[in-house]
Amino acid sequence: MTQYRKLLLPLITTMTLAGPALADGDAGIGGKLYRACLACHSLQTGVHLSGPSLAGIWGAKAGKNTGFVRYSPGLKAADFNWDKDTLNAWLANPDAMISGTTMKFRGIAQNGKRADLIAFLRLAMVPGGSGDVVAKGLVTESFIQGQQPPNMQPTPKHKQITNIRHCGNAYFVENGNGDKTSHWEKNIRLKIDSQATGPAPGTPVIHGAGMRGDRFSVIFSSLDELKNTLKEKC
Ligand code: HEC
Repeated sequence: MTQYRKLLLPLITTMTLAGPALADGDAGIGGKLYRACLACHSLQTGVHLSGPSLAGIWGAKAGKNTGFVRYSPGLKAADFNWDKDTLNAWLANPDAMISGTTMKFRGIAQNGKRADLIAFLRLAMVPGGSGDVVAKGLVTESFIQGQQPPNMQPTPKHKQITNIRHCGNAYFVENGNGDKTSHWEKNIRLKIDSQATGPAPGTPVIHGAGMRGDRFSVIFSSLDELKNTLKEKC
């Protein structure tokens, strides 16, 4: 009995200090749980959605993904690497780890689920890992892409804008078919989509027209294009 106690006591003390170690999870189940991340992340190098690409960041420094310019100050200044333990804390409660993080995700409470997801991420987030997890049948290609916006090209003529001007409280628009329409300014949203899947440079696009077509977005390929195309002219 005394012998057991001698063995158990240091074990319990270490576990309390470090927190219970995360058991190894099941990457197959983890691949299915990864669905929760698709709205904001891709696993393709350099393809950033509302969150940064997760490709190749296993073992890399947090908050340093090239080309992602919207890190919160906390994550940008972080000085740790992504591994099993740091991901475990992050996925349990992002805001508890990095206060003020812009990852609006309430976290995964169950240890077992986090372990499964991390087992998947360990395969998917190493360089070249996204190809491997598809080859192994853990996820389909659509999970690697994440929920990227639909490709705007090629754009049908009636959705191409050949002329747009602002006058008074209205926009006057001409489309690729030569149809001329006018719209109350508050019904039109101006957007920029600079990604390769966005509008072709030089051709702003009408997007998301409702049933009656009186509300829609006009999407430009760059800020310069917006500034050069759209003028106040009556
Ligand atoms: C609602 C959108 C959203 C969802 C859902 C989401 N994330 Fe994020 N994620 C973000 C944003 C935004 C950031 C950047 C946070 C910041 O800068 O504070 C981020 C950052 C990260 C990072 C750090 C990346 C780096 O470059 O250091 C990891 C890892 C991550 N998320 C993993 C996940 C996983 C795994 C899931 C699914 C369980 C998930 N995220 C779900 C938006 C999201």
